[in-house]
Amino acid sequence: MPLQNDFVKNVKLYFQEQGEEWLNELPNLIRYCEEKWSMEVGEPYELSINYVAPAIMDDGTEVVIKLCIPGEGFHHELEALKLFNGQGMVRLIDSDAEKGVLILEILTPGHTLATLEDHEDTARIAARAIRKLITPAPAKTILPTTKAREENLRKQIRNHPNGIGPIPRDILDRSLDIFTFLNETTEQRYLLHGDFHHYNVLSSGDGEWTVIDPKGLVGEIEYDLIQFMLNRQTQQNAYEVIGQRVEIFTNELNLNKKRLLLWGYAHAVLSTAWSVDAKDGSYSEDFYRGIDIFQSLYQHHFKKSDMFI
Ligand SMILES: Nc1ncnc2c1ncn2[C@@H]1O[C@H](COP(=O)(O)OP(=O)(O)O)[C@@H](O)[C@H]1O
Ligand SMILES: [Mg+2]
Repeated sequence: MPLQNDFVKNVKLYFQEQGEEWLNELPNLIRYCEEKWSMEVGEPYELSINYVAPAIMDDGTEVVIKLCIPGEGFHHELEALKLFNGQGMVRLIDSDAEKGVLILEILTPGHTLATLEDHEDTARIAARAIRKLITPAPAKTILPTTKAREENLRKQIRNHPNGIGPIPRDILDRSLDIFTFLNETTEQRYLLHGDFHHYNVLSSGDGEWTVIDPKGLVGEIEYDLIQFMLNRQTQQNAYEVIGQRVEIFTNELNLNKKRLLLWGYAHAVLSTAWSVDAKDGSYSEDFYRGIDIFQSLYQHHFKKSDMFI
């Protein structure tokens, strides 16, 4: 079975031996699903780290099948899909938790928000897509809170006390302080997507857009928007585009701009750190640029605050 090169590379990079075994078993797993659900699995979509393909049931119903290595990430996605329960989120039709299989409603035409040109229109659509997702945090869940992101950064700093990639120690420490401050002062917690960006929002007909691929997280809505804000900007337009997004999201969703900009700074640092390639030292310049931009936007709007002194 020929597989997309980047997909194979990603699976081996993240899951190593377990990934290799899973890739070898993939044809059997697909056959298992075809039998279990009486379906025929089609050609996969463009893949990154999970095997996602359209499928047709015997009765002609079209669905999407997503095959994942059944570790923590998979269990969190399954939990998040159940908790969102199809509200602004792709609907979960069935699952096999042991084998790492999700059967999802198919979204058509299914192109991503990254196919749109206009930054402002795109941000408005994204804000509407997030609005449909807004749900208070469940009383009991296996999902982590944004405290886990703070702990992740703390651990990275411990392992790299002299800086991570292009980020010097003082910026790492400031970002960690901001994470701590925000987590300690969070008043209302929501069920969050955890990886909301252009490629996880699909057109679902009649001008509607539906969100896919939740990581599952608990925290403030403001935090969930940052990954979207960091994506799809360039050196030439970054300050303007991120600034516009901040205005659109805060207005459309009635958010706290001060906290949003602080989450922006803290998460820009974290996502830059995540992007550093240990082998060649390369990193996401877009995310790195985001650090300065969130700081400048904060200082522009809240001159008197000492958060960045
Ligand atoms: N429910 C769906 N309907 C139509 N296409 C989908 C659906 N779910 C996923 N896809 C397609 O598969 C791609 C990868 O799916 P995604 O869940 O984002 O996987 P990953 O977790 O690997 O990022 C998406 O970008 C999209 O093109
Ligand atoms: Mg995705």
